[in-house]
Amino acid sequence: GSTAQAATSRIAFKPLAAQTDFTIHVPEGYSWKPVAKWGQPLFSGVDDLDHATGGALETSDKVFGENTDGMEAFTVGNHQLIAVNHEYVNPKINLPNNEGGVPTSADDVRKLQNLQGVTVMEVAEGENGWDIVKDSPFTRRIHQNTPMKIAGPAAGHNLLKTDADPAGVEVLGTMNNCGAGKTPWGTYLTCEENFNGYFGSTDANLELPEDFGRYGIGHEGRYAYEKFDARFDLATTPNEPYRFGYIVEIDPANPDAMPVKRTALGRFKHENAACVLAPDGRVVVYLGDDERGEFLYKFVSDGVYTPGGDTSTLLDEGQLYAAKFNEDGNGEWVALTPEATGMSQPQICILTRVAASKVGATTMDRPEWVAVNPVAVEAYCALTNNKNRGLKTNAGGDETPVGGPNPREANKYGQIVRWFPAGDDHASDSFTWDLYVMAGNPTVGEGLYKGSENINAGNLFNSPDGMMFDSTGLLWIQTDGDDDNEGEFEGMGNNQMLAGDPVTGQIERFLTGPNGSEVTGLTWSADKRTMFVGIQHPSAPFPDGEGKLARSTVVAVKRDDNAIIG
Ligand code: FEO
Ligand code: CA
Ligand code: CA
Ligand code: CA
Repeated sequence: GSTAQAATSRIAFKPLAAQTDFTIHVPEGYSWKPVAKWGQPLFSGVDDLDHATGGALETSDKVFGENTDGMEAFTVGNHQLIAVNHEYVNPKINLPNNEGGVPTSADDVRKLQNLQGVTVMEVAEGENGWDIVKDSPFTRRIHQNTPMKIAGPAAGHNLLKTDADPAGVEVLGTMNNCGAGKTPWGTYLTCEENFNGYFGSTDANLELPEDFGRYGIGHEGRYAYEKFDARFDLATTPNEPYRFGYIVEIDPANPDAMPVKRTALGRFKHENAACVLAPDGRVVVYLGDDERGEFLYKFVSDGVYTPGGDTSTLLDEGQLYAAKFNEDGNGEWVALTPEATGMSQPQICILTRVAASKVGATTMDRPEWVAVNPVAVEAYCALTNNKNRGLKTNAGGDETPVGGPNPREANKYGQIVRWFPAGDDHASDSFTWDLYVMAGNPTVGEGLYKGSENINAGNLFNSPDGMMFDSTGLLWIQTDGDDDNEGEFEGMGNNQMLAGDPVTGQIERFLTGPNGSEVTGLTWSADKRTMFVGIQHPSAPFPDGEGKLARSTVVAVKRDDNAIIG
């Protein structure tokens, strides 16, 4: 009964009803406040966002970037730092005076490039809550023209060479930084997802390599970069796309350290990078490839992590695996070796999707974030949705029959799969698995579309995406789905963040975002009394009110009694 359940529930808040308005809601006894909005100055002497122009080019690399996404908090001395991704841009909002937001000059392109990438910022809590510490020695904007090193097996490979970098070892910029990760040695991992969309060709008849199809790289760029920046024009710089789609390591404590692309972790549409140590000290990194019918991966380092030891090549030397889920609830990590794939080690790191197809990895319903439970040896992956499951296959991809952890044809709601590594060892090559939850709609859905038993009228959601465990082992689930609240999505309301108990399966709604936005990115202050939550791409003015531009924003959520919340 509900009384007994309430008495034993680990979920301490009063669950929120679904919402459909244009602001944030949190449960009774909690409150929220913006901390960092797109266009907010990171340095003194820089003005706050000019809502008439979307901000000047000159200051676009000195402000908090657009489309906040994955983030991680770091404590350096007594400084509270947050490293946070800026995934992409909303050109109609960022270039409000351009017809349709379409860039018409190299300056427009440069401004958009500056608004993406990563911010490292210091934050501090004062009488009026959390705020950015301007001019902190740690403040840093990494954008699409920031020099970075290429490391690992693919460094120096012919496919990575360009006229500007004939050695194939240094690249400008990181892009489409989606989810994130934190290494045991205190560095930030930022994950390059839909890099394909930044490239185009000024020659409409240019013949493209076959593997471009598998990665979705075509003649038409999403932001017209190719017209104004030759680096993004395939007709001029054909190898540039091979230099993106990686995990990038950034040291927030050392603002002068060059970011490093870790090619050993593969090239695909990286979602996040969930790190955990195996019992013997090897580093395990779980990695999702967010595309319909693509795969789930993990990397296991050859070396072991020892506190204070050399970590500079831990993510360069190791084995990449792709997941194979069997129908019987068992599964295996299949090593992507030259023997198994017929590809060279650098080729495996550059054309990772092709390698995983060769070993028969399981096609998934868009693997988004992986979260590793800190109090139990298990990991969870949000499979956000897959309208093509069982119906259609991506260009150059594998057939996607219904089955295993992807049990629904034309899967519109998504599910969360979890696995339990053999021997309680995340480095093990076998596991058992089950579905933690299948989102659905018990009122309007039929059969599997009703959702799993832990879905009820009070916690409806679709399209799980961001996921983080807190230090107590509660799973926080963020959504990026259909928020029309109609038909099959009736009763789900706006995108949201829920808390899930991994043991009982109980899931309750904690926060709702403004209509049109997605909730993505979550981290905690060092004292765990504040939760930082990202609100990406709100569609109406937020949070500044009527007549203002919509601003992607990181907000602080606290309990009114200042108790620990994670
Ligand atoms: Fe950037 Fe797959 O979300
Ligand atoms: Ca996502
Ligand atoms: Ca998503
Ligand atoms: Ca997004």
